[in-house]
Amino acid sequence: MNEREIERLGEDVPLLEGIRSTRAIRRLRPDPVPKALVRKVCEAGTYAPSGGNRQPWIFVAVTEPERRAWIAERYKTAFHAYVDPLFERAEREPDFPAPALRNMKAAVHLADHLHEAPVHLFVAGWRHRGEAQTQALYPAIQNILLACRAVGLGASLTTAHLRHASEIDAYIGLSERTPSCALLPIGWPAGRYGRPPRASVDEKLHFERYSA
Ligand SMILES: Cc1cc2nc3c(=O)[nH]c(=O)nc-3n(C[C@H](O)[C@H](O)[C@H](O)COP(=O)(O)O)c2cc1C
Repeated sequence: MNEREIERLGEDVPLLEGIRSTRAIRRLRPDPVPKALVRKVCEAGTYAPSGGNRQPWIFVAVTEPERRAWIAERYKTAFHAYVDPLFERAEREPDFPAPALRNMKAAVHLADHLHEAPVHLFVAGWRHRGEAQTQALYPAIQNILLACRAVGLGASLTTAHLRHASEIDAYIGLSERTPSCALLPIGWPAGRYGRPPRASVDEKLHFERYSA
């Protein structure tokens, strides 16, 4: 893929259709992603709003296999500590919701194959008055996820690495002053995009006053 192709990639995806068909893509092919494409999706992140337009975000893209393996090992331990009790519950409870179980299985697949994801993109941010700017980073994260969708990359939003945050942050050059807030594993999707399962907006939208 040359520079010009990368420049054009994703530029013609209608915005709302892109939004509706962006979902967690956790089955990724191990093929490398051009650095220019990583730059392009991160650039979309930089167009996000932030308090006082401080733009506190820092993006760290880890691509070297040994470094990804180191990160994946810690992510896997952290994710299983979280999800294994849920699987035990699902086995005990016959009415455990099937969509949640499907989602958990996909998430476990990612946890067990994270080392194969060609890009581990960490989103971190400068603290402001001592506070982590998590809320300022999520709009940037969502822009990156949408940009991945537009250019045909698969991605998902994960936070399980936070159980080992200080160790992982130090490993990738971040400090107490610039904590990571999310890890987006990015790669070419093994499957296809599609609309995610969502409740109708009519169940969520209320005019003037909320009424249950
Ligand atoms: C704050 C936050 C943290 C999340 N952390 C994880 C995570 O650690 N691992 C993971 O696989 N998915 C994680 N997710 C992704 C959600 O589980 C995902 O959006 C959900 O499964 C819906 O998937 P869908 O968009 O394909 O329907 C997180 C999402 C949010 C908003």
